[in-house]
Amino acid sequence: MTEARLALSGDGPLVVLTGAGMSAESGVPTFRDAHTGLWQRYDPAALATPEAWARDRDTVWAWYRWREHLVSGAEPNPGHLAVARAQADRDVVVVTQNVDDLHERAGSGSVHHVHGSLFAHRCDTCGASMDVGPPPAEPIDRLTPPVCGRCGGWSRPGVVWFGEMLPSQPWNAAVDAVTSAAVVLVVGTSGLVHPAASLPGLAVDARIPVVEVNPGPSGLGSDVSVYVRATAGQALPALLHP
Ligand code: OAD
Repeated sequence: MTEARLALSGDGPLVVLTGAGMSAESGVPTFRDAHTGLWQRYDPAALATPEAWARDRDTVWAWYRWREHLVSGAEPNPGHLAVARAQADRDVVVVTQNVDDLHERAGSGSVHHVHGSLFAHRCDTCGASMDVGPPPAEPIDRLTPPVCGRCGGWSRPGVVWFGEMLPSQPWNAAVDAVTSAAVVLVVGTSGLVHPAASLPGLAVDARIPVVEVNPGPSGLGSDVSVYVRATAGQALPALLHP
């Protein structure tokens, strides 16, 4: 903890790279944790791919709308709040793989969603953004998505699916932020999904220290300079506001 605090001290630009573990203490399940991870209970190939959308869009739409409902009822945890509070002292850029809005609701002003957002619905044909109203308050197996008023396509979740390109604007902003940071803080990611998992390595190549907060092991290995084995909600207030 002391070494991590030292690496994070100073007032140069801080980049915080977050994954699903960041929101775990808000009650939003991660993907790969044993027992609680979404991919333990659901098949990603059946829900998070363009092929699944083409095959059974009503099931995919219902599942993402249900996740929207769950996230809408969650609150930022002390980790999100500590990251937002750090803006008072220095430039802070958040780069997140999360599709929730908990960093924004905690007050972070600069947040790049490299895997998209649950709340940015768009037409699957012309790409127009679509307002689809509130999600159902009960889990439901199948739900037909609304039709685009411009072209007749279907509304789809604004998230990145396996096999899709990352949106270029947040990705380019993420690379710029990571390679010009004074220090990079990686929180709650398994470090298994590329290209997001390659971001800490870019910092290492630029000789920028990388601090990792995770209660378990991750795939980041030698990309990490200092490792803090604790949860986001426990570690971030102590690290960022000692
Ligand atoms: P994972 O579910 O793969 O990993 C979650 C990580 O968070 C693990 O390393 C846990 O040890 C850690 N963790 C759990 N609880 C924590 C806590 N309270 N505080 C801090 N860390 C905690 O999630 P991601 O790495 O974010 O992509 O997953 C990457 C991508 O895989 C997701 O964005 C999603 C998924 O498939 C797409 O859907 C494209």
